Amino acid sequence: MTSIEKLFYLRLVDSKAVEEFHYNPGQFLEISVPGVGEAPISVCNVQKTPGELQLCIRKVGRVTNAIHRLKEKDLLWLRGPYGNGFPMGVMENHNLLLIAGGLGIAPLRSVLQHALLHRDKYGLITVMYGVRCYSTMLFREEFLKLFREGDKLGVEFLLAYEDKSDAECYQLACERSDRCMSGLVTKLIEATPIKPDNTYAVICGPPVMYKFVVKELTQRHFTPAQIYMTMERRMKCGVGKCGHCITGSSNSIKYVCKDGPVFTYLDALKTRGLL
Ligand SMILES: Cc1cc2nc3c(=O)[nH]c(=O)nc-3n(C[C@H](O)[C@H](O)[C@H](O)COP(=O)(O)OP(=O)(O)OC[C@H]3O[C@@H](n4cnc5c(N)ncnc54)[C@H](O)[C@@H]3O)c2cc1C
Ligand code: FES
Repeated sequence: MTSIEKLFYLRLVDSKAVEEFHYNPGQFLEISVPGVGEAPISVCNVQKTPGELQLCIRKVGRVTNAIHRLKEKDLLWLRGPYGNGFPMGVMENHNLLLIAGGLGIAPLRSVLQHALLHRDKYGLITVMYGVRCYSTMLFREEFLKLFREGDKLGVEFLLAYEDKSDAECYQLACERSDRCMSGLVTKLIEATPIKPDNTYAVICGPPVMYKFVVKELTQRHFTPAQIYMTMERRMKCGVGKCGHCITGSSNSIKYVCKDGPVFTYLDALKTRGLL
């Protein structure tokens, strides 16, 4: 997909596991390469075919580099799915505002796919995606189609790009200046008339993004309970046993792997260090 991110198509080889394997948007798997190690990775598509799933993986270190070196039909080990995932049921009959930065679009893609699969259960879907430039945009073809033709599906797809000199993004901005602009993803929130009534916001991106996005949303009168965020922490067991991902203090302690990785902004206000 880009120089550092690849989309992996996985098929479970254990037929018993195929029957039992069910995941929800926002859940993650512990993926391992024998002799190298394990890493938590979010599923990035909605479950359609039993035993099949997609993972979008950025190579950053030992495990993810080893995964990138694999070839077609090589074996990977996985445990999970783990974590709470997004409350798709709670968000039914509401508009969805999905806000992603960079690789954060991966888990939100499964939310988007779920909502499109059950289109009558959700209102207007707005996606705001912030990228550095065109070459770092993930799922490019898929999202450009939504950028141009999303209206037919009740989807507004908006793009923000950081590199002002990027020619491809500039071209997209000329095509639809109301849907593509240079700047950070927060600029899209500033420029778009968003009504908080009957809307849930869902955020995923680099840690620095959350604070600014939440500020914009609260200024637009989103309540802390209307804002969902998926958080990343260094993890080991993924199931609430080792304590690696604990955050908070005596009043409120959260295991990001078990209680999350999806939290509301209300949780973040109560739990020190979560945001
Ligand atoms: C719930 C959850 C879902 C995730 N989903 C995805 C996904 O869909 N796609 C994806 O590519 N990645 C995802 N990640 C991040 C991924 O787990 C890490 O990048 C991976 O564990 C790195 O392992 P590694 O052995 O390749 O790197 P390492 O060799 O362990 O580390 C390489 C470098 O990355 C840093 N690093 C590693 N993990 C993290 C982290 N979690 N936060 C900040 N810095 C880190 C290290 O400090 C080091 O500098 C997710 C993480 C969590 C917790
Ligand atoms: S990763 Fe072990 S408790 Fe969360």
